Amino acid sequence: MSSTVRFQPAGPLRGDYTPPADKSISHRAALFGAMADEPIAVFNYLDSEDTRSTLNAVRTLGAGVEEEGEDCLLLRGVGLHAPLEATGGLLNVGNAGTLMRLLPGWLAGQPGGVWTLDGDASIRERPVDRIAEPLQRMGASVEARDARFPPFTVRGAQLTGIEYELPVPSAQVKSCVLIAGMLADGSTTVTEGSASRDHTERMLRRARVPFERDGLRLTVSQVDELELDQVLVPGDPSSAAFIVAAAILVSGSRVVVKDVGLNWTRTGFYRIAERMGAVIVGELEEPGTDTDEEPVGELDVASGPLEGTEVEPDEVPLAIDELTLVALLGAYADGETVVSGAEELRLKESDRIAGVVEGLRGLGADIEATPGGFSVRGNGSPLHGGTIDANGDHRLAMLGAVAGLASVEGVEVVGMDAAAVSYPGFERDLRALL
Ligand code: S3P
Repeated sequence: MSSTVRFQPAGPLRGDYTPPADKSISHRAALFGAMADEPIAVFNYLDSEDTRSTLNAVRTLGAGVEEEGEDCLLLRGVGLHAPLEATGGLLNVGNAGTLMRLLPGWLAGQPGGVWTLDGDASIRERPVDRIAEPLQRMGASVEARDARFPPFTVRGAQLTGIEYELPVPSAQVKSCVLIAGMLADGSTTVTEGSASRDHTERMLRRARVPFERDGLRLTVSQVDELELDQVLVPGDPSSAAFIVAAAILVSGSRVVVKDVGLNWTRTGFYRIAERMGAVIVGELEEPGTDTDEEPVGELDVASGPLEGTEVEPDEVPLAIDELTLVALLGAYADGETVVSGAEELRLKESDRIAGVVEGLRGLGADIEATPGGFSVRGNGSPLHGGTIDANGDHRLAMLGAVAGLASVEGVEVVGMDAAAVSYPGFERDLRALL
Protein backbone atom coordinates (compact mmCIF):
# COMPACT_ATOMS: atom_id res chain seq x y z
CA MET A 1 0.00 0.00 0.00
CA SER A 2 1.49 3.34 -1.03
CA SER A 3 -0.28 6.51 0.05
CA THR A 4 0.00 9.98 -1.46
CA VAL A 5 -0.47 12.85 0.98
CA ARG A 6 -0.45 16.59 0.32
CA PHE A 7 1.18 18.98 2.79
CA GLN A 8 -0.02 22.54 2.32
CA PRO A 9 1.90 25.61 3.45
CA ALA A 10 0.92 26.08 7.07
CA GLY A 11 2.07 27.27 10.42
CA PRO A 12 3.45 28.50 12.64
CA LEU A 13 4.16 25.39 14.72
CA ARG A 14 3.62 26.04 18.40
CA GLY A 15 3.49 23.97 21.56
CA ASP A 16 5.08 21.10 23.45
CA TYR A 17 6.05 17.99 21.56
CA THR A 18 7.27 14.56 22.70
CA PRO A 19 9.03 12.55 19.97
CA PRO A 20 8.64 8.79 19.56
CA ALA A 21 11.13 6.50 21.26
CA ASP A 22 14.63 6.13 19.89
CA LYS A 23 14.89 3.54 17.13
CA SER A 24 18.61 2.76 17.55
CA ILE A 25 18.33 2.28 21.31
CA SER A 26 15.13 0.21 20.96
CA HIS A 27 16.82 -2.24 18.56
CA ARG A 28 19.75 -2.58 20.96
CA ALA A 29 17.50 -2.99 24.00
CA ALA A 30 15.64 -5.89 22.32
CA LEU A 31 18.89 -7.58 21.26
CA PHE A 32 20.55 -7.16 24.66
CA GLY A 33 17.33 -8.40 26.27
CA ALA A 34 17.44 -11.50 24.07
CA MET A 35 21.10 -12.12 24.95
CA ALA A 36 20.57 -11.80 28.72
CA ASP A 37 19.87 -14.64 31.18
CA GLU A 38 17.65 -12.59 33.47
CA PRO A 39 14.59 -10.64 32.26
CA ILE A 40 15.18 -7.04 31.16
CA ALA A 41 12.43 -4.43 31.45
CA VAL A 42 12.45 -2.01 28.52
CA PHE A 43 10.48 1.17 29.08
CA ASN A 44 9.25 3.22 26.12
CA TYR A 45 10.23 0.70 23.42
CA LEU A 46 9.54 2.19 19.97
CA ASP A 47 6.38 0.86 18.33
CA SER A 48 7.29 1.01 14.62
CA GLU A 49 7.71 -1.39 11.71
CA ASP A 50 11.50 -1.62 12.10
CA THR A 51 11.52 -2.29 15.81
CA ARG A 52 8.69 -4.82 15.48
CA SER A 53 10.96 -6.71 13.07
CA THR A 54 13.53 -6.94 15.86
CA LEU A 55 11.01 -8.28 18.36
CA ASN A 56 9.88 -10.88 15.82
CA ALA A 57 13.48 -11.92 15.18
CA VAL A 58 14.33 -12.37 18.86
CA ARG A 59 11.08 -14.32 19.37
CA THR A 60 12.08 -16.64 16.52
CA LEU A 61 15.37 -17.18 18.33
CA GLY A 62 13.57 -18.27 21.48
CA ALA A 63 13.38 -15.07 23.54
CA GLY A 64 10.14 -14.08 25.24
CA VAL A 65 8.58 -10.64 24.75
CA GLU A 66 5.80 -9.72 27.17
CA GLU A 67 3.88 -6.48 27.62
CA GLU A 68 4.06 -5.32 31.22
CA GLY A 69 1.62 -2.50 31.72
CA GLU A 70 1.27 0.33 29.27
CA ASP A 71 4.80 1.30 28.54
CA CYS A 72 7.03 -1.61 29.43
CA LEU A 73 8.18 -4.69 27.55
CA LEU A 74 9.70 -7.54 29.46
CA LEU A 75 12.38 -9.33 27.43
CA ARG A 76 13.08 -12.87 28.58
CA GLY A 77 16.39 -13.71 27.02
CA VAL A 78 18.02 -17.00 26.16
CA GLY A 79 21.50 -16.00 27.37
CA LEU A 80 24.63 -15.15 25.40
CA HIS A 81 25.72 -18.73 24.89
CA ALA A 82 22.40 -20.49 25.08
CA PRO A 83 21.69 -23.10 22.42
CA LEU A 84 19.49 -21.09 20.11
CA GLU A 85 16.19 -22.42 18.89
CA ALA A 86 15.14 -22.42 15.27
CA THR A 87 18.59 -23.08 13.90
CA GLY A 88 18.35 -23.46 10.15
CA GLY A 89 15.54 -20.93 10.16
CA LEU A 90 14.88 -17.78 8.19
CA LEU A 91 14.98 -14.45 9.98
CA ASN A 92 13.02 -11.69 8.25
CA VAL A 93 14.54 -8.27 9.03
CA GLY A 94 11.95 -6.36 6.96
CA ASN A 95 13.38 -2.89 6.23
CA ALA A 96 15.64 -2.77 9.32
CA GLY A 97 19.31 -2.27 8.46
CA THR A 98 20.27 -2.03 12.12
CA LEU A 99 18.74 -5.43 12.88
CA MET A 100 20.35 -6.92 9.79
CA ARG A 101 23.82 -5.72 10.79
CA LEU A 102 23.75 -6.15 14.58
CA LEU A 103 22.04 -9.52 14.97
CA PRO A 104 24.72 -11.47 13.00
CA GLY A 105 27.27 -10.39 15.63
CA TRP A 106 25.40 -12.59 18.10
CA LEU A 107 24.56 -15.42 15.68
CA ALA A 108 28.17 -15.66 14.52
CA GLY A 109 29.24 -16.73 18.01
CA GLN A 110 26.86 -19.74 18.25
CA PRO A 111 28.86 -22.83 17.21
CA GLY A 112 26.66 -25.15 15.14
CA GLY A 113 23.96 -22.54 14.54
CA VAL A 114 22.91 -21.63 10.99
CA TRP A 115 20.53 -18.81 10.07
CA THR A 116 19.54 -17.05 6.88
CA LEU A 117 18.60 -13.36 7.00
CA ASP A 118 16.45 -11.66 4.39
CA GLY A 119 14.17 -8.66 4.14
CA ASP A 120 12.27 -6.34 1.82
CA ALA A 121 13.28 -5.04 -1.62
CA SER A 122 15.19 -2.08 -0.12
CA ILE A 123 17.14 -4.25 2.34
CA ARG A 124 18.18 -6.53 -0.54
CA GLU A 125 20.11 -3.58 -2.00
CA ARG A 126 22.05 -2.89 1.20
CA PRO A 127 25.55 -4.29 1.62
CA VAL A 128 26.42 -6.87 4.26
CA ASP A 129 30.02 -7.54 3.18
CA ARG A 130 30.95 -4.86 5.72
CA ILE A 131 29.90 -7.22 8.54
CA ALA A 132 30.77 -10.47 6.75
CA GLU A 133 34.43 -9.50 6.54
CA PRO A 134 35.14 -8.99 10.28
CA LEU A 135 32.87 -11.88 11.34
CA GLN A 136 34.76 -14.21 9.00
CA ARG A 137 38.05 -12.99 10.38
CA MET A 138 36.72 -13.93 13.81
CA GLY A 139 35.96 -17.47 12.60
CA ALA A 140 32.31 -17.47 11.48
CA SER A 141 31.11 -18.11 7.95
CA VAL A 142 28.86 -15.62 6.15
CA GLU A 143 27.63 -16.36 2.65
CA ALA A 144 25.83 -13.53 0.91
CA ARG A 145 24.19 -13.14 -2.50
CA ASP A 146 26.92 -11.89 -4.86
CA ALA A 147 29.16 -11.93 -1.76
CA ARG A 148 27.55 -8.62 -0.77
CA PHE A 149 23.77 -8.56 -0.40
CA PRO A 150 20.89 -10.29 1.41
CA PRO A 151 19.72 -12.95 1.61
CA PHE A 152 22.78 -14.16 3.50
CA THR A 153 23.55 -17.14 5.72
CA VAL A 154 25.50 -16.96 8.96
CA ARG A 155 27.16 -20.12 10.32
CA GLY A 156 28.22 -19.70 13.92
CA ALA A 157 31.56 -20.83 15.35
CA GLN A 158 33.71 -20.38 18.43
CA LEU A 159 35.04 -16.92 17.60
CA THR A 160 38.47 -15.46 18.24
CA GLY A 161 39.01 -11.80 19.14
CA ILE A 162 40.45 -9.51 16.46
CA GLU A 163 41.80 -5.98 16.02
CA TYR A 164 39.53 -4.28 13.54
CA GLU A 165 39.82 -0.87 11.90
CA LEU A 166 36.47 0.18 10.52
CA PRO A 167 36.83 0.73 6.76
CA VAL A 168 33.52 2.68 6.70
CA PRO A 169 32.17 5.07 9.30
CA SER A 170 29.31 2.90 10.57
CA ALA A 171 27.88 2.44 14.04
CA GLN A 172 26.14 -0.69 12.80
CA VAL A 173 29.39 -2.40 11.79
CA LYS A 174 31.10 -1.24 14.97
CA SER A 175 28.22 -2.64 17.04
CA CYS A 176 28.20 -5.95 15.18
CA VAL A 177 31.90 -6.54 15.91
CA LEU A 178 31.55 -5.46 19.56
CA ILE A 179 28.61 -7.84 20.07
CA ALA A 180 30.58 -10.69 18.45
CA GLY A 181 33.50 -9.66 20.69
CA MET A 182 31.48 -10.59 23.80
CA LEU A 183 31.45 -14.21 22.53
CA ALA A 184 35.00 -14.34 21.18
CA ASP A 185 38.05 -15.79 22.92
CA GLY A 186 40.26 -13.03 24.33
CA SER A 187 39.51 -9.44 23.51
CA THR A 188 38.31 -7.64 20.40
CA THR A 189 39.32 -4.10 19.49
CA VAL A 190 37.46 -1.86 17.04
CA THR A 191 38.96 1.44 15.94
CA GLU A 192 36.78 4.11 14.33
CA GLY A 193 38.03 6.76 11.92
CA SER A 194 35.67 9.29 13.48
CA ALA A 195 33.05 9.10 16.19
CA SER A 196 29.64 7.60 15.44
CA ARG A 197 26.61 6.88 17.65
CA ASP A 198 27.78 5.08 20.77
CA HIS A 199 24.61 3.49 22.17
CA THR A 200 26.07 -0.01 22.00
CA GLU A 201 29.13 1.05 23.98
CA ARG A 202 27.02 2.69 26.67
CA MET A 203 24.78 -0.37 26.90
CA LEU A 204 27.78 -2.73 27.13
CA ARG A 205 29.07 -0.78 30.08
CA ARG A 206 25.68 -0.66 31.76
CA ALA A 207 25.47 -4.45 31.28
CA ARG A 208 28.85 -4.75 33.08
CA VAL A 209 30.61 -6.24 30.08
CA PRO A 210 34.40 -5.72 30.27
CA PHE A 211 34.73 -2.79 27.91
CA GLU A 212 37.24 0.02 27.49
CA ARG A 213 37.14 3.15 25.42
CA ASP A 214 40.37 4.95 24.57
CA GLY A 215 39.37 7.75 22.23
CA LEU A 216 38.21 6.02 19.07
CA ARG A 217 39.69 2.65 20.10
CA LEU A 218 37.15 0.34 21.71
CA THR A 219 37.97 -2.97 23.37
CA VAL A 220 35.51 -5.59 24.55
CA SER A 221 36.43 -8.87 26.24
CA GLN A 222 34.68 -12.21 26.36
CA VAL A 223 31.94 -12.42 28.95
CA ASP A 224 29.52 -15.08 30.22
CA GLU A 225 26.45 -13.03 30.91
CA LEU A 226 24.94 -9.58 30.72
CA GLU A 227 23.92 -7.82 33.90
CA LEU A 228 21.32 -5.32 32.84
CA ASP A 229 17.93 -5.18 34.47
CA GLN A 230 16.30 -2.31 32.67
CA VAL A 231 16.56 0.12 29.77
CA LEU A 232 14.71 3.41 29.53
CA VAL A 233 14.49 4.46 25.89
CA PRO A 234 14.61 8.26 25.38
CA GLY A 235 12.86 10.16 22.60
CA ASP A 236 14.52 9.87 19.20
CA PRO A 237 16.51 12.97 18.20
CA SER A 238 16.47 11.81 14.55
CA SER A 239 12.66 11.61 14.46
CA ALA A 240 12.37 14.89 16.38
CA ALA A 241 14.67 16.55 13.82
CA PHE A 242 11.84 16.57 11.24
CA ILE A 243 9.51 18.51 13.54
CA VAL A 244 12.41 20.75 14.61
CA ALA A 245 13.27 21.48 10.97
CA ALA A 246 9.64 22.46 10.34
CA ALA A 247 9.77 24.80 13.35
CA ILE A 248 13.02 26.32 12.07
CA LEU A 249 11.65 26.91 8.57
CA VAL A 250 8.13 28.16 9.30
CA SER A 251 8.46 31.66 10.68
CA GLY A 252 6.87 32.47 14.01
CA SER A 253 7.24 28.86 15.21
CA ARG A 254 8.25 27.88 18.72
CA VAL A 255 8.29 24.23 19.76
CA VAL A 256 9.49 22.73 23.03
CA VAL A 257 10.76 19.19 22.45
CA LYS A 258 10.35 17.07 25.59
CA ASP A 259 12.16 13.92 26.74
CA VAL A 260 14.47 13.76 23.76
CA GLY A 261 17.81 11.93 23.75
CA LEU A 262 20.70 14.42 23.84
CA ASN A 263 23.63 12.00 23.40
CA TRP A 264 26.27 14.06 21.60
CA THR A 265 26.86 11.32 19.01
CA ARG A 266 23.26 11.84 17.87
CA THR A 267 22.89 15.61 17.97
CA GLY A 268 25.13 16.69 15.09
CA PHE A 269 22.09 17.98 13.20
CA TYR A 270 21.17 20.30 16.07
CA ARG A 271 24.69 21.75 16.18
CA ILE A 272 24.67 22.26 12.40
CA ALA A 273 21.22 23.91 12.50
CA GLU A 274 22.34 26.23 15.31
CA ARG A 275 25.41 27.18 13.33
CA MET A 276 23.11 28.03 10.41
CA GLY A 277 21.13 30.41 12.62
CA ALA A 278 18.32 28.33 14.14
CA VAL A 279 17.50 29.14 17.75
CA ILE A 280 17.89 25.94 19.79
CA VAL A 281 18.08 26.24 23.56
CA GLY A 282 18.79 23.13 25.60
CA GLU A 283 21.49 21.09 27.21
CA LEU A 284 22.97 19.11 24.35
CA GLU A 285 25.54 16.73 25.80
CA GLU A 286 29.10 18.03 25.31
CA PRO A 287 31.15 16.34 22.58
CA GLY A 288 33.39 13.63 23.99
CA THR A 289 31.41 13.13 27.22
CA ASP A 290 32.37 9.76 28.66
CA THR A 291 29.32 8.33 30.43
CA ASP A 292 27.27 5.13 30.45
CA GLU A 293 23.95 6.93 30.61
CA GLU A 294 21.79 8.18 27.76
CA PRO A 295 21.13 11.85 28.53
CA VAL A 296 17.54 13.04 28.10
CA GLY A 297 16.24 16.58 28.17
CA GLU A 298 14.33 19.38 26.55
CA LEU A 299 15.02 21.59 23.54
CA ASP A 300 13.33 24.92 22.92
CA VAL A 301 13.34 25.63 19.17
CA ALA A 302 12.43 28.77 17.23
CA SER A 303 12.89 29.88 13.65
CA GLY A 304 15.57 32.37 12.69
CA PRO A 305 17.27 33.62 9.51
CA LEU A 306 19.58 30.91 8.17
CA GLU A 307 23.06 31.07 6.65
CA GLY A 308 24.77 28.43 4.55
CA THR A 309 27.37 26.20 6.17
CA GLU A 310 29.98 23.56 5.40
CA VAL A 311 29.42 20.15 6.95
CA GLU A 312 32.78 18.40 7.34
CA PRO A 313 33.28 14.61 6.98
CA ASP A 314 33.84 14.24 10.76
CA GLU A 315 30.38 15.66 11.44
CA VAL A 316 28.67 13.30 8.99
CA PRO A 317 28.28 10.19 11.22
CA LEU A 318 26.90 12.41 13.99
CA ALA A 319 24.09 13.67 11.73
CA ILE A 320 23.88 10.82 9.23
CA ASP A 321 20.10 10.34 9.35
CA GLU A 322 19.38 14.09 9.29
CA LEU A 323 21.57 15.19 6.38
CA THR A 324 18.61 15.42 3.99
CA LEU A 325 17.17 17.99 6.41
CA VAL A 326 20.43 19.95 6.24
CA ALA A 327 19.83 20.11 2.47
CA LEU A 328 16.33 21.46 3.05
CA LEU A 329 17.59 24.08 5.53
CA GLY A 330 20.29 24.94 2.98
CA ALA A 331 17.62 25.70 0.37
CA TYR A 332 16.26 28.36 2.75
CA ALA A 333 19.65 29.73 3.84
CA ASP A 334 21.61 32.67 2.62
CA GLY A 335 24.63 31.39 0.63
CA GLU A 336 25.83 27.88 -0.04
CA THR A 337 25.55 24.75 2.10
CA VAL A 338 27.95 21.93 1.30
CA VAL A 339 27.97 18.41 2.75
CA SER A 340 31.01 16.25 1.97
CA GLY A 341 32.28 12.84 3.05
CA ALA A 342 28.72 11.50 3.08
CA GLU A 343 29.03 8.73 0.45
CA GLU A 344 27.30 6.41 2.92
CA LEU A 345 24.04 8.23 2.19
CA ARG A 346 23.90 6.33 -1.10
CA LEU A 347 23.58 3.06 0.85
CA LYS A 348 20.69 3.91 3.15
CA GLU A 349 17.04 2.80 2.81
CA SER A 350 17.35 4.46 -0.62
CA ASP A 351 20.12 6.41 -2.35
CA ARG A 352 19.55 9.52 -0.26
CA ILE A 353 21.94 11.70 -2.25
CA ALA A 354 20.00 11.05 -5.45
CA GLY A 355 16.66 11.21 -3.60
CA VAL A 356 17.25 14.54 -1.90
CA VAL A 357 18.81 16.17 -4.96
CA GLU A 358 16.08 15.06 -7.37
CA GLY A 359 13.36 15.58 -4.78
CA LEU A 360 14.29 19.10 -3.70
CA ARG A 361 15.21 20.16 -7.24
CA GLY A 362 11.70 19.15 -8.28
CA LEU A 363 10.35 21.53 -5.64
CA GLY A 364 12.47 24.40 -6.98
CA ALA A 365 15.77 24.11 -5.06
CA ASP A 366 19.15 24.98 -6.54
CA ILE A 367 20.91 21.77 -5.48
CA GLU A 368 23.41 19.40 -7.04
CA ALA A 369 24.97 16.09 -6.13
CA THR A 370 28.72 15.87 -5.53
CA PRO A 371 30.69 12.62 -5.28
CA GLY A 372 30.51 12.69 -1.47
CA GLY A 373 27.29 14.58 -0.80
CA PHE A 374 25.60 17.67 -2.21
CA SER A 375 25.71 21.44 -2.40
CA VAL A 376 22.66 23.65 -2.23
CA ARG A 377 22.20 27.41 -2.58
CA GLY A 378 19.35 29.39 -1.09
CA ASN A 379 18.02 32.24 -3.18
CA GLY A 380 16.14 34.09 -0.48
CA SER A 381 12.72 32.79 -1.42
CA PRO A 382 10.83 29.69 -0.26
CA LEU A 383 10.65 26.56 -2.36
CA HIS A 384 7.82 26.62 -4.83
CA GLY A 385 6.48 23.11 -4.15
CA GLY A 386 5.41 20.14 -6.27
CA THR A 387 5.67 16.38 -5.87
CA ILE A 388 8.31 14.31 -4.13
CA ASP A 389 8.64 10.54 -4.23
CA ALA A 390 9.73 8.94 -0.96
CA ASN A 391 11.20 5.97 -2.87
CA GLY A 392 9.99 3.77 -0.01
CA ASP A 393 12.33 5.66 2.36
CA HIS A 394 10.80 6.84 5.67
CA ARG A 395 13.13 9.78 6.05
CA LEU A 396 12.50 11.08 2.52
CA ALA A 397 8.74 10.86 3.13
CA MET A 398 9.04 13.03 6.25
CA LEU A 399 11.40 15.41 4.45
CA GLY A 400 8.73 15.98 1.78
CA ALA A 401 6.10 16.73 4.42
CA VAL A 402 8.30 19.35 6.10
CA ALA A 403 9.16 20.89 2.72
CA GLY A 404 5.43 21.18 2.00
CA LEU A 405 4.71 23.21 5.13
CA ALA A 406 7.49 25.66 4.29
CA SER A 407 6.68 25.90 0.55
CA VAL A 408 4.62 28.37 -1.49
CA GLU A 409 2.20 25.93 -3.10
CA GLY A 410 2.46 22.75 -1.02
CA VAL A 411 4.08 19.37 -1.62
CA GLU A 412 2.51 16.07 -2.52
CA VAL A 413 4.44 13.16 -0.99
CA VAL A 414 4.15 9.89 -2.90
CA GLY A 415 4.62 6.97 -0.50
CA MET A 416 3.98 8.80 2.78
CA ASP A 417 3.18 5.43 4.43
CA ALA A 418 6.96 4.73 4.51
CA ALA A 419 7.16 7.02 7.58
CA ALA A 420 5.77 4.13 9.67
CA VAL A 421 9.16 2.40 9.47
CA SER A 422 10.46 4.71 12.21
CA TYR A 423 7.64 7.14 13.04
CA PRO A 424 4.05 5.89 12.64
CA GLY A 425 2.56 8.98 14.38
CA PHE A 426 4.49 11.56 12.37
CA GLU A 427 1.57 13.19 10.53
CA ARG A 428 -0.55 13.33 13.68
CA ASP A 429 2.29 14.93 15.70
CA LEU A 430 3.04 17.46 12.98
CA ARG A 431 -0.57 18.51 12.54
CA ALA A 432 -1.06 18.77 16.32
CA LEU A 433 1.51 21.59 16.44
CA LEU A 434 -0.11 23.64 13.65
C1 S3P B 1 22.34 3.17 13.04
C2 S3P B 1 23.49 3.57 12.41
C3 S3P B 1 23.50 4.34 11.17
C4 S3P B 1 22.15 4.99 10.91
C5 S3P B 1 21.02 4.05 11.10
C6 S3P B 1 21.00 3.51 12.52
C7 S3P B 1 22.45 2.38 14.28
O1 S3P B 1 23.79 3.46 10.10
O2 S3P B 1 22.11 5.53 9.61
O3 S3P B 1 19.77 4.70 10.87
O4 S3P B 1 21.43 2.23 14.99
O5 S3P B 1 23.56 1.90 14.58
P1 S3P B 1 25.31 3.13 9.62
O6 S3P B 1 25.95 2.34 10.70
O7 S3P B 1 25.15 2.33 8.37
O8 S3P B 1 25.95 4.45 9.40
